[in-house]
Amino acid sequence: MDIGVFIPIGNNGWLISTTSPQYMPSFDLNREIVARAERYGFDFALSMIKLRGFGGPSQFWDHNLESFTLMAGLAAVTSRIRLYATAATLAMPPAIVARMASTIDSISHGRFGLNVITGWQRPEYSQMGIWPGDHYFHRRYDYLGEYVQVLRDLWETGRSDLKGEFLTMSDCRLSPRPQAPMKIICAGQSDGGLAFSAKYADYNFCLGKGINTPTAFAPVVERMREAAAAAGREVPVYVLLMVIADETDEAALAKWELYKAGADREALGWMTQQIAADTRPAANTNVGQIAAPEGAVNLNMGTLVGSYASVAAMLDRIAAMPGVGGVLLTFDEFVQGVTDFGERIQPLMQSRKAAATLAA
Ligand SMILES: Cc1cc2nc3c(=O)[nH]c(=O)nc-3n(C[C@H](O)[C@H](O)[C@H](O)COP(=O)(O)O)c2cc1C
Repeated sequence: MDIGVFIPIGNNGWLISTTSPQYMPSFDLNREIVARAERYGFDFALSMIKLRGFGGPSQFWDHNLESFTLMAGLAAVTSRIRLYATAATLAMPPAIVARMASTIDSISHGRFGLNVITGWQRPEYSQMGIWPGDHYFHRRYDYLGEYVQVLRDLWETGRSDLKGEFLTMSDCRLSPRPQAPMKIICAGQSDGGLAFSAKYADYNFCLGKGINTPTAFAPVVERMREAAAAAGREVPVYVLLMVIADETDEAALAKWELYKAGADREALGWMTQQIAADTRPAANTNVGQIAAPEGAVNLNMGTLVGSYASVAAMLDRIAAMPGVGGVLLTFDEFVQGVTDFGERIQPLMQSRKAAATLAA
């Protein structure tokens, strides 16, 4: 099972709270995290793109670096770990993104890939006058399909002449092309998102679910398997989880309770409003899960809270699930979290014996 880290490109990582660690994003912080991840044998690092924060006393995600430029910097100071940037496809023409990807492929010697997102938060785009209108909520994966077709054409043949509904290419060129096949991630969970992944993506990323219920996302794996089979492909699922670990279950749970007690209600209220903007949400979309009140403090991502041994056992259960390619981890405190993963959790995992031996 692959292990990835969802690096904190935005302030405070993924805890919308005033009692969790408060920090700004910086290149130095992310370099330290990725250097440690590489040392412990993590397979990949991914950064998101977020163009507008949620406000509130914690100023949640009001401070965000840009994904490609951050990954280009990280590519230059790492040597083994795979790196993924996220393309805000509404804001960046595909021919430019294809060329940026080729450039980071060159910097990283073939270790780079792309997460493509449609965007679910209107103000990120309306603030710069490029929101196409609310009809976009329902056409977003049609747009993304054309977008990825252009990327693939350019990477594979150096040319695109696509005449689509949304995009028109006229003998568009790209050179140099990437030296390694460019992998594409999609992180949609709606029926449209999975149909997109089935056709175009190499990996589908999904939100984990619940507290210490590591396999609760299994229905998504089954839906992805069915959608991919219909397209004659296999698309492994990677699950997004937060790890809050300590010496004992009690100590880890105490941290989780502390973060929840400080939930930033104002920021969470803003996020809930944004999600409500799509008045006809797509079938099985995960944005409803993100804002559900019980665990919105960490966007209701699946959370593994416990001793190092408890977390290792839960990760091994995920590794045993057919159709799962890996996990994408966030931490309450990333430098410590990646270190604890490498020093205390991974050595206890059956599914990471080879990586643990190499790291040792
Ligand atoms: C691992 C992961 C990474 C994501 N990265 C971003 C991102 O960088 N920017 C963003 O706006 N949305 C991001 N999203 C949201 C998804 O791209 C997508 O909009 C959301 O999952 C809703 O899609 P759906 O309606 O098909 O379920 C991410 C989601 C996941 C699970």
